[in-house]
Amino acid sequence: MAAAKAKTTPARTPLVAGNWKMYKTESDAEEYIQALLPRVAAVSGVDVAICVPFTDLRAMVDSARGSRVEVYAQNMHHEPEGAFTGEVSAPMLSELDVRGVVLGHSERRQLFGESDKALALKVPVALDAGLQPILCVGETEQERDGEDTERKLRQQIKDDLGNVPDERLADVVIAYEPIWAIGTGRVATPEQAQEAIAFIRALVGDRSAEAAQRVRILYGGSVKPENAAELLALPDVDGALVGGASLQADAFAQIVSAATP
Ligand code: PGA
Repeated sequence: MAAAKAKTTPARTPLVAGNWKMYKTESDAEEYIQALLPRVAAVSGVDVAICVPFTDLRAMVDSARGSRVEVYAQNMHHEPEGAFTGEVSAPMLSELDVRGVVLGHSERRQLFGESDKALALKVPVALDAGLQPILCVGETEQERDGEDTERKLRQQIKDDLGNVPDERLADVVIAYEPIWAIGTGRVATPEQAQEAIAFIRALVGDRSAEAAQRVRILYGGSVKPENAAELLALPDVDGALVGGASLQADAFAQIVSAATP
């Protein structure tokens, strides 16, 4: 039964998500979305998301309504409400019609002390709230040089997805983002990206073979229009999480086109 099902599993729809980080005021964001929408209107077979600062969420949800662009947040607290100054919860995002959230980006881990323990709480909360989580994992340069990449990925996948039941694993999007490739212009080679992402898929497979076939795993780290097609064509790469190049509507639209099946 399980084997028959596995054979008929449909292809994974690619996701291209732009991570704006702390860029764009609401008026900048408006200008951007008006430029982006016509550029991606004819695209099909690709999910498109922009992950924007909290202050841009409402405007972007309104402007993108009815289009193929979904609006995601960049972080979220696991509690629905409480005395957590400066934080935003899943119900707050859901009520705005936000569709997903980036969790565990390396900048949050490195600069703001985001822990695997917190992520283990956040990922299932996002799923239960109907938000698409994009869980980011990846090794530092030192870990890669020390041949510690697999250990790091194994640990992050085990800890961060520890509270997600096997039958919901495939509902998480995982982004493999080698930290040495983020914002550096140093993109992983296709071999490095494919190898790490296949490894992550195998880790998911250790828990559920079906989830491993269905789970979408993105590559992130210096994705640009010039290198997107090669990375997106890799067998285990199901899309991209794009930082710097997502800030220009034209460049981002080119990457979306490169992901079109
Ligand atoms: P980059 O960022 O594309 O600018 O390297 C990727 C990310 O941080 O998600």
